Amino acid sequence: MQLSKIIEEMIREPSPIRQIMKMASRQNIINMGLDPDEVISYGGGWVGHHSPEELRKEYQKISSDIELFHNSGAYSPTAGFDEAREALASMERYLFNVNVRMENVIIGQSSTQITHDLFITLADDGDKIMMFDPTYANYPGQIKIALRNAEIVRMKVLDEERWKYKDAEALSEEFKEVYEKEKPKIVLFPSPDNPSSQIFPQEFVETIADICQDNNSFMLLDYAYKTQVFGPVPEYFSWSPADKPFMIGIYSNSKWGRGLGRRLAWIIADEEIINAMERTQQCTILCPDTMHQMALTEYINEGLKDGSLKRYLDETRDAYKKAAEVTVNSIREYLDMPCLTPQGGLYTLMNVNEDGNKFVERVLKNTGVLFIPGAGFGESLRNAVRISYGPHVENTEIIREGFIRVAKYLGRM
Ligand SMILES: Cc1ncc(COP(=O)(O)O)c(C=O)c1O
Repeated sequence: MQLSKIIEEMIREPSPIRQIMKMASRQNIINMGLDPDEVISYGGGWVGHHSPEELRKEYQKISSDIELFHNSGAYSPTAGFDEAREALASMERYLFNVNVRMENVIIGQSSTQITHDLFITLADDGDKIMMFDPTYANYPGQIKIALRNAEIVRMKVLDEERWKYKDAEALSEEFKEVYEKEKPKIVLFPSPDNPSSQIFPQEFVETIADICQDNNSFMLLDYAYKTQVFGPVPEYFSWSPADKPFMIGIYSNSKWGRGLGRRLAWIIADEEIINAMERTQQCTILCPDTMHQMALTEYINEGLKDGSLKRYLDETRDAYKKAAEVTVNSIREYLDMPCLTPQGGLYTLMNVNEDGNKFVERVLKNTGVLFIPGAGFGESLRNAVRISYGPHVENTEIIREGFIRVAKYLGRM
């Protein structure tokens, strides 16, 4: 069978994270002589909290009404329903004070799909795309699939010696240097980031924005974890496409609304980009999911009116903040290895001072505890692991238990 060259190539370089998840499959765990029910996983890049009850009821309303259910089986416009675009714009105005109108919003299937379509819409084959090291592990594969020969340029943001992110000044200086040399068409970064849960400082993002504006590059801000910030939010969370037409915010309901399997995503951008993305989406998804748009629109409109949306987000954020504290405190107490303090999101990074792949393998085989090796997120994490507290947010005791098990195996308690 002759598959495409690109996919043949990509099959030969499988995602390191998928590989480790396969290694931790039920059958493999049994083959290792372990009980799969006893495995404690810090591997999952997902959230464990419940969706808003009011949102569930919106789905219930649709599925219990013959006409509404019938309507939910129809195509929506390629950019999404106007009411849904308006609801998402009003949510952003309300939560982050962003000056945004319906015309600045296009809805897609997920941020994975939207990011793919943005690459196609904004860049060409030989263009350069700049991202940080470490950052979200799926980007390189997504870029390769979308743009084939685009070149990825990385900038290291972690000070490996001090196991801390570099400060705004150092980041800005390094950015200027790398940008000047490489001239990327796109600069792409999440804030808070995955896998580090660090938020990029205001001054640094201002530097990126100024340089992108002056040189006609696009700045893509992946806001997968925007509502899950534990401290004060940076000012750039309120920037609007009216002032910064080169900036694109990528949003998703996966993390805040526990919509990972009911995915819906949108971008906030200048109208010219929205119109271009509409053309791209005609060829990729035709239209976003109708039922999710219907349910989310009603939920947002009601939730903004009665305050329940804000309450839900506040409670969710608090729960993750607590889970993050349990994680970091347990690492300090039981393992005493350097780790980052999460500023939002679902993760921390722990320096294990040996090859992360080997550490993960031996810890899994000997304790049934699963970490994710850091190397898949960038070279700077070759001696580190990503630890996710996201799946355990409703049962933080398990977080402590896993670290105790690992500490005993490593002879630290
Ligand atoms: C930074 C970042 N962007 C995008 C995604 C994927 O989002 P979606 O579920 O909307 O495709 C993830 C998922 O882990 C992520 O961490």
